[in-house]
Amino acid sequence: MTGTYDLVVTGGTIVNQNGRGVGDVGVIGGCIAAIGDLSRADAGERFDATGLHVLPGVIDSQVHFREPGLDHKEDLATGSLAAVKGGVTAVFEMPNTNPSTTTPDALDEKLRRAKGRMFCDHAFYAGATEDNMGALAAMEAMAGCAGIKVFMGASTGSLLVAEDEALEKVLTTGRRRIAIHAEDEYRLKERRPIADSGDVADHCNWRDPVSAMMATRRAVAIARRHGRRIHILHVTTKEEMEFLGTHKDLVTVETTPQHLTLSAPDAYRRLGTHAQMNPPIREEHHRLGLWEAVRAGIVDVIGSDHAPHTAAEKAKPYPNSPSGMPGVQTLLPLLLDHASKGALTLERVVDLTSAGAQRIFGLAAKGRIAVGYDADLTLVDLAATREITGDWLASRCGWSPFEGMSVTGWPMATIIRGHIVMRDGEVPGPALGEPLRFSEVPAAFV
Ligand code: DOR
Repeated sequence: MTGTYDLVVTGGTIVNQNGRGVGDVGVIGGCIAAIGDLSRADAGERFDATGLHVLPGVIDSQVHFREPGLDHKEDLATGSLAAVKGGVTAVFEMPNTNPSTTTPDALDEKLRRAKGRMFCDHAFYAGATEDNMGALAAMEAMAGCAGIKVFMGASTGSLLVAEDEALEKVLTTGRRRIAIHAEDEYRLKERRPIADSGDVADHCNWRDPVSAMMATRRAVAIARRHGRRIHILHVTTKEEMEFLGTHKDLVTVETTPQHLTLSAPDAYRRLGTHAQMNPPIREEHHRLGLWEAVRAGIVDVIGSDHAPHTAAEKAKPYPNSPSGMPGVQTLLPLLLDHASKGALTLERVVDLTSAGAQRIFGLAAKGRIAVGYDADLTLVDLAATREITGDWLASRCGWSPFEGMSVTGWPMATIIRGHIVMRDGEVPGPALGEPLRFSEVPAAFV
């Protein structure tokens, strides 16, 4: 093949969700323009990817970047810097900021703040409350909106839609897939005294598997009644996975690297409140159940639920310590490490971190390496064994539950729309992240 390209990524093994092959990727104007032998083509820039695997850019469909209002934990710049250092090219950011993202103005404000400061592409969720039902349909139709997010159980922040009647109103508003945090608020309230033990290992007894299953069943029942597509975020129990496996026509499923990697009681003993998140890290048989669901194809995406809190906040005695842990930067290294141990194939990693998000959220021109798609590429060295260290981490919170862990498989470069934004851990800037486009939001294409 001949021709002139802005960038040619040469000699890597190109991996999509359905297979792999050696070849070059030619980029023109931020899009993939050719795949094949481009050794005779002209190129403004060549990136030698010999020995590396070239994956579609990693899409993290659940992060909390805390801006506005909680910038002491993270902001859009630091969170997205952590993302690209970890090989992530696009994020969906959650609405439990301060103020919460519950109005069109608040969503616009996030998009405005992101411009020129975010290092990766991005979309923002609209948060549902019992008072903003009237605004949700308009919000989910805005360019740069990832869809509607519902908290059925209280977590960090004040967003909550606890009862069926209100949930039903949300699920009959708008038309895109709705993302749901499924923990039953009434059961959580009833069992809250369990946390008064002061022992963080009780976090998964307070917020028990039944709390998660009850909410998941309620959400699915209402979605079924109205034929509404929903997405259950961070599924943590074996039983929910078995149940969700019978509703795949309407319901999509996320789990997280934390829940696939850590289990109780060991995580709580080793990490204390750094292992505290909602829904909680659970016992080993649940972790193994999540892996069964990954292998069975029940899980559609793996999101990091990156939820940074400062070390000082986490040092408060349980249960005053906040729930959540950072993860956007370690998402891919952890999954590559699991792949290196044979837990899943590299193709399935791509399916869960790129193609899956494209498929279930209708992302435009992302999620696969194909001509006409955005030139978002994550280059990884499967042979590199590295330690996750504090000085590599970019999140403002400054810690990771995985610090000190040695992993095999490492992101070496992050390319977004043809721009090499990270190479060998360095991110020179500028921050050129743009809003994501969704096929269900025609305004994004005007
Ligand atoms: O542990 C969590 N932390 N779970 C959530 O759902 C919210 C998150 C946060 O924002 O801190």
